[in-house]
Amino acid sequence: MAKDLVNFKIREECEVLQMSDKQIKEIMSRLHTDLKKGLCKDTHDKATVKCWITYIQDLPNGKERGKFLALDLGGTNFRVLIINLGENHFDMQSKIYAIPSSIMTGTGIALFDHIAECLANFMKEHNVYNERLALGFTFSFPLRQLGLTKGILQRWTKGFSCSGVVGEDVVQGLKDAIARRGDVQIDICAILNDTTGTLMSCAWKNHNCKIGLIVGTGSNACYVEKIENCDLFDGVPGKKELLINTEWGAFGDDGALDFVRTEFDREVDNSSINPGKQIQEKMISGMYMGELVRLALVKFTKAGLLFGGQGSDLLFTKGCFYTKYVSEIESDKPGDFTSCMEVLEELGLSHATESDMAAVRHVCECVSRRAAHLVSAGIAALINKMDEPRVTVGIDGSVYRFHPHFHTLMTEKIATLIRPGITFDLMLSEDGSGRGAALVAAVACRQQEGR
Ligand code: GLC
Repeated sequence: MAKDLVNFKIREECEVLQMSDKQIKEIMSRLHTDLKKGLCKDTHDKATVKCWITYIQDLPNGKERGKFLALDLGGTNFRVLIINLGENHFDMQSKIYAIPSSIMTGTGIALFDHIAECLANFMKEHNVYNERLALGFTFSFPLRQLGLTKGILQRWTKGFSCSGVVGEDVVQGLKDAIARRGDVQIDICAILNDTTGTLMSCAWKNHNCKIGLIVGTGSNACYVEKIENCDLFDGVPGKKELLINTEWGAFGDDGALDFVRTEFDREVDNSSINPGKQIQEKMISGMYMGELVRLALVKFTKAGLLFGGQGSDLLFTKGCFYTKYVSEIESDKPGDFTSCMEVLEELGLSHATESDMAAVRHVCECVSRRAAHLVSAGIAALINKMDEPRVTVGIDGSVYRFHPHFHTLMTEKIATLIRPGITFDLMLSEDGSGRGAALVAAVACRQQEGR
């Protein structure tokens, strides 16, 4: 086939990955409806976007002081942190521990024992083994919270499937594991989502921060809602606001996104460990983005449109096109294919021509742009719903952090979707949600001490 025709065909095939403004606005309106369903007592049980209440009503005010531990579980890594909050500064040390896949899919007891062991080792290394410390636990999965220190796991996401935890209180699970060891003294002061941690962490510096967003292994957002809209919360009198963890990764689980889903999305979903669940997340986040690209490349190779019809074992193996490749390939300047070539060589595709490389980059761009637009639709829906004149969105996650154009794509798209007169900005969280966990613990302590 002539080069131009091939190019044309690939572009034509990729059109399914492009969402029109009309479609994006329809997505916003459906999400708005779903957010309201999640918040409302009568519809909550059936809602796909659960809008869990967090029991966090106070953002940091800068007066938080002291030494805190934090745990951060929910992405590809697990982190333990120790944080010292002082006046206008803080210092933080942390260590990353791997969660072997045998633990991700093993028993809940083994998971919590592993966490407690890492925690005890960390405390030894940082000479606080004999101290009694407060801890904030970032646990980034859907939780029905019954208080700041009680949260019932609703479902696992992002490849975790530890047995015996769904339906149980996760804080109790960790407490039991700490008690089984019997060596360290820890007060778990708060359990929170990574979106919440990100919001708190950014709000410490920027008081306009009212939305926390993660575009990493998973995708989710939390925001500050007016208390009168939080039907499920029997609040503390006098407080006007509450943080809501939307769990918007589940948006589309009832078919609401079927009108923009593609064969690649359906295949990613069918071959996942949780088919039918987390449909929006599977169109956006780092756990799936590379695989979406791979599936498109496989289709085009088999159709003879790419690599002279000649694939490779790695290209044909599920999970072998990493999401970081998308960021690398799109980091090449126009006309340059250095990173693209490296990636293709790694995949055993060194026979790729320059026009193959241009096509691969085009596929990556379509998939990542669609992800950025879906996230933008969600953020714009939240901003319009909140109806504040100025909103800062605190953001974390590997896709947002490392993709070279995600920030710009989002900034441009959100600007076209929000109501006139509202201003917004997107702020990268510098220290991750771990510090947010310490801050939530600190705010809880500050309140107990009446500061
Ligand atoms: C998944 C989790 C959610 C988390 C998000 C980002 O969607 O269910 O709790 O916030 O990933 O890590």
